[in-house]
Amino acid sequence: MMNILVTGGDGQLATCIKDIASNELNFIYTDYLALDITCLSSLESFFKAHPIAYCINCAAYTAVDEAESHPKAAFNINETGAKNLALVCKKHDTILIHISTDFVFDGTKSTPYTELDSPNPLGVYGASKLQGEKHIQSILSKYFIIRTSWLYSEHGKNFVKTMLRLFQERDLVKVVDDQIGSPTYAGDLALFIHRIIALKSPHYGLYHFSNLGATTWYGFAKAIRALSKSNTEVVAVPTSEFPTKALRPSYSVLDMTNTQEVFGIEIESWEKRLSKVVSRCH
Ligand SMILES: NC(=O)c1ccc[n+]([C@@H]2O[C@H](COP(=O)([O-])OP(=O)(O)OC[C@H]3O[C@@H](n4cnc5c(N)ncnc54)[C@H](OP(=O)(O)O)[C@@H]3O)[C@@H](O)[C@H]2O)c1
Repeated sequence: MMNILVTGGDGQLATCIKDIASNELNFIYTDYLALDITCLSSLESFFKAHPIAYCINCAAYTAVDEAESHPKAAFNINETGAKNLALVCKKHDTILIHISTDFVFDGTKSTPYTELDSPNPLGVYGASKLQGEKHIQSILSKYFIIRTSWLYSEHGKNFVKTMLRLFQERDLVKVVDDQIGSPTYAGDLALFIHRIIALKSPHYGLYHFSNLGATTWYGFAKAIRALSKSNTEVVAVPTSEFPTKALRPSYSVLDMTNTQEVFGIEIESWEKRLSKVVSRCH
């Protein structure tokens, strides 16, 4: 049976991968304590002890604003960690499936970003994730880098769960209305990753994955409110009224054409997917 290593095994996406059972594959989930991706010698010992066919890297420094004050930590995990994984995967002929982000883009486009568009991150988080991508591409030939956006699910901390909580606590919630992107159900990304492995896909490379369509955080919040039947008022505000440490792209919709064509997958719209998931996020 093939061993599949999932690093960052306690995070949101890893937990969604765990939710999809498979009897034909042996998934090994490691958290930060069991396997720290910033420690090359630990990775080497682990890969020596376990033959790993695929490594799914769900480990990351994901605190976008915190990264501005802690760039060393962000680059250590998102750049050095990704590089370390690429090095051990190369040595052990393991296929690396690595997750990256729409925040590698600066948001100056007004049409969906393709895999061929040039990244230009606005903040430390995006810059550290981009460096991770670059190391993987220069070290490995057998890799899948999947850039995704606005992840949410029943697990971990995410926008949907935060909104559902605020709708219970407050009469009014202000949400920014000038950043456009595509909400993505982490369970759909987990299914896509399972599909890559099930197909034993030889189509290595860089891909985008999100649910289809686009909205603003305000539009996303309004949709969550409607589905939860809350009476809380949702008010649109500009980003300037909600200053954060990190700059965020005002537009980061990912073009899904290539991913759909190469893997022959159908992807749901963000609205349809949200309506199926909201009740499970309470
Ligand atoms: N969430 C989003 O909206 C979003 C959007 C676009 C792309 N992405 C990308 O999608 C991927 C999955 O995101 P997610 O939402 O599942 O993130 P998450 O819930 O924050 O999970 C990341 C996991 O990595 C662990 N980790 C941190 N440092 C580590 C280390 N040195 N070694 C091993 N594990 C470590 C974290 O552990 P601790 O909690 O103990 O630190 C956490 O369990 C990430 O690559 C992220 O950059 C996320």
